[in-house]
Amino acid sequence: MGWNSWNAFGISPRLIEPIIEQTADLMVSLGLRDAGYRYLNIDDGWQGERDSDSRITVDAQRFPSGFKHLADYAHAKGLLFGLYSDAGTHTCGGKEGSLGYEDIDARTYADWGVDYLKYDNCFNRFLPIRPRFEKMRDALNATGRPIFYSLCEWGVDDVWEWGASVGNSWRVTDDLMDHWDSLAHNADDASQLHQHAGPGSWNDWDMLQVGNGGLRWIEEQAHFAMWCLSKSPLVIGTDLRKISPDALALLKNEELIAVHQDPLGKAARLAWHKGPYRVFSAPLADGSVAVVIWNRHTHFNAYFYDDGSQCNYTTATFPIPKKLMNHTEYFKPPPDHHPHTRRRRRLQDERGDTSVPPDDTNGWDPPCKD
Ligand code: DGJ
Repeated sequence: MGWNSWNAFGISPRLIEPIIEQTADLMVSLGLRDAGYRYLNIDDGWQGERDSDSRITVDAQRFPSGFKHLADYAHAKGLLFGLYSDAGTHTCGGKEGSLGYEDIDARTYADWGVDYLKYDNCFNRFLPIRPRFEKMRDALNATGRPIFYSLCEWGVDDVWEWGASVGNSWRVTDDLMDHWDSLAHNADDASQLHQHAGPGSWNDWDMLQVGNGGLRWIEEQAHFAMWCLSKSPLVIGTDLRKISPDALALLKNEELIAVHQDPLGKAARLAWHKGPYRVFSAPLADGSVAVVIWNRHTHFNAYFYDDGSQCNYTTATFPIPKKLMNHTEYFKPPPDHHPHTRRRRRLQDERGDTSVPPDDTNGWDPPCKD
């Protein structure tokens, strides 16, 4: 359980030292640390250049005091400190990656006092996935410092089959966006993998969107309940300086957190379904069973193509902007949501990852207009 900068700040210029310090302060003063949220994690965007010894540096414009300072700051407050890197030449945001620098990077993190590493999978030169993630596992272990290792290859290589021998958690889906459609799709995919999770090795359903404004209140509650029952890491992704009392109370809900932290560590399985309705259940250590009753109905989701020839589209949820109400393309049916479609689309379109050859569609038919 912890907090991560990505959903709230991305690589924006606002990802800066005073905000991270304030977040640490708020994790304590808002009672989140005492509710169990201990990791304070900085995602993509912190890296500077490598120095003449190949050591990665911290972007001094954003973090002038460096990460030894921030890790000490977090530790002094009873928190743990986490960082992000990538098993490729660059991070998804185009910063320095760790491919080929695993040993020196792991040693650098350990010297700074890092307790958690999220390891991404962009710009990977098409090298096999598992060995790249194992290389960093070995490098982290060689430091002798316990560092939680969070694999972030988005489930593209059936990571749930091998993740337990490599890391402590592994992402099983594409990024969770701040709307119900994304959440419902990801939950459908991820809940099928319940048997692979257990104490010490967890399916990661991605960071929480609670508090970010794209979900209705009832959807936020469903989101948090499902993440707790699935035993996914609970990583807050909202700006704590602006969090509402409702969102805060949800994130601190003692009963749900107790289910999440149950020592049996069994993730929820689909126990019953009919149409959009599902019941998920997970056994608990005391012999009782926790249940989520899930109405998976998407409210109106419209897709419109902004460039048919490029097969680009965006997703919109209510309220529909007035200027689009008469836009005929707006009511096109949704494109295929097969996981491969979404993964491929993300690699090619959203990340601008030019290392993906354009003809390598991997069986994916792009959602083009007729
Ligand atoms: C892709 C990951 O899935 C996200 O969680 C985030 O870490 C971004 N990369 C950062 O670029």
